[in-house]
Amino acid sequence: MSRRSWAEPFKIKMVEPLRMTSPQERERAIADAGYNTFLLRSRDVYIDLLTDSGTSAMSDRQWAGMMLGDEAYAGSENFYHLEEVVRRYYGYEHLIPTHQGRGAEHLLSILCIQPGDTVLGNMYFTTTKAHQELAGGRFVDVVCDAAHDPDDLSPFKGNVDLAKLERALTAGGRVAYLCLQMNVNMAGGQPVSLSNLRQVSDLCRRHGVPVYLDATRAVENAYFIKLREPGQADRTIPEILLEICSLTDGCTNSAKKDCLVNIGGFLAVNDPDLAERARNLVVVYEGLHTYGGLAGRDMEAMAVGIEESVQFDHIRARVGQVEYLGEKLVNAGVPVVRPIGGHGVFLNAAKILPHIPRDQFPAQALTVALYLESGIRSMERGAVSAGRDPDTGENIFPSLELVRLTIPRRVYTQAHMDVTAESVMEVAAHPRRVTGMRFVSEPKHLRFFQSRFAPVSADVEAAPRARKSLAAGV
Ligand code: F0G
Repeated sequence: MSRRSWAEPFKIKMVEPLRMTSPQERERAIADAGYNTFLLRSRDVYIDLLTDSGTSAMSDRQWAGMMLGDEAYAGSENFYHLEEVVRRYYGYEHLIPTHQGRGAEHLLSILCIQPGDTVLGNMYFTTTKAHQELAGGRFVDVVCDAAHDPDDLSPFKGNVDLAKLERALTAGGRVAYLCLQMNVNMAGGQPVSLSNLRQVSDLCRRHGVPVYLDATRAVENAYFIKLREPGQADRTIPEILLEICSLTDGCTNSAKKDCLVNIGGFLAVNDPDLAERARNLVVVYEGLHTYGGLAGRDMEAMAVGIEESVQFDHIRARVGQVEYLGEKLVNAGVPVVRPIGGHGVFLNAAKILPHIPRDQFPAQALTVALYLESGIRSMERGAVSAGRDPDTGENIFPSLELVRLTIPRRVYTQAHMDVTAESVMEVAAHPRRVTGMRFVSEPKHLRFFQSRFAPVSADVEAAPRARKSLAAGV
């Protein structure tokens, strides 16, 4: 018998109309946005796959929770509820709420990094690395080599390479901590296995180096562990999540992802002394330690969101929807990062647009082409995101030059995934219609958010090629 269909485990109670645009409107909109999808107005976007951050649909129960907001400046009931839920599912003793993930990253970085320290990570994340560097740290990547290969089918491409870790721990100089990211974002949403985490935790402990989890997508990572790791199939998502966290000293978390809220984040740690120092600093940057930049109602929505996030039906449908889109593209021969990750499908722009040189940013060009084709908004995850080397000032060209189609949780249906797949196939079938991009303006920090670009004109592109053919004697 053929496989039975499955459907989203919710029904729709409130709708938000989508607006379609004409090709002429899109041409104007993307030019006005400096060919950067971050600078588009959302009213000009049809299907918004820029990010899964803060873009989820809240449930009726979360909305009901919003009405229970205790907006006391100090000691809000919602804080104590959230603290209890974080203890129950993540297992950390001390909770310091922040306005979003980078608020927690900021606190952890300034509390734990001294200028000149090394900070280890399993592939970088943009905001995390920015805060580590602003605090004077030097980032060293210890992710396994498979993470850099979009065609490697290993099930846990987010794993730490233990030999690289050992080398980094014994290289001399102070190591502030290892920031261990779950479902590694820039690698394409690739998980870390429990057995790797156990070894990593053990090795770091032996060297006296703390491990802080970037728990932003830890629930999705727990789901992959249940699915793929031998011996884990019969455990529940909460059981696996608790074990993940128990192997670390604390976490930063952007609750805008797994935790199903539109705003919020937290730092959670076990060390009472570190917690006390974090509580003291949070009042400088975010707000009092019982709200950290959030309204009481935001903390309530987060507490309810965490409980919903670990339900098996939810997480299976969430990751399943991403896989559905990914499989469609794989079957159509579009090069994407495989295995398909937890939060999005990552297009291999370098392979889709081989005629565009890396210094003309093929992934940036692909986001523009996709938008022009159908009004779908995606995000560059390649050299523009990687930024410049802090020492040399040169562009960093990472191994992966990707475009991310990020799926918000509980927002789009299977039909939206079908439309998206068709649009990507159309663009990928006509690569020569796409031209490279050059910077027009480039801010200093996290340049991908606010840079402006212009298309490289066809004759500029043709000139070096003509010279090359002459040199080759053809
Ligand atoms: N860590 C990871 C792994 C993230 O993906 C993000 C955000 C953060 C930390 C920072 O959290 O945005 O709440 O301050 N990622 C978003 C994205 C921006 O689109 O992937 P934040």
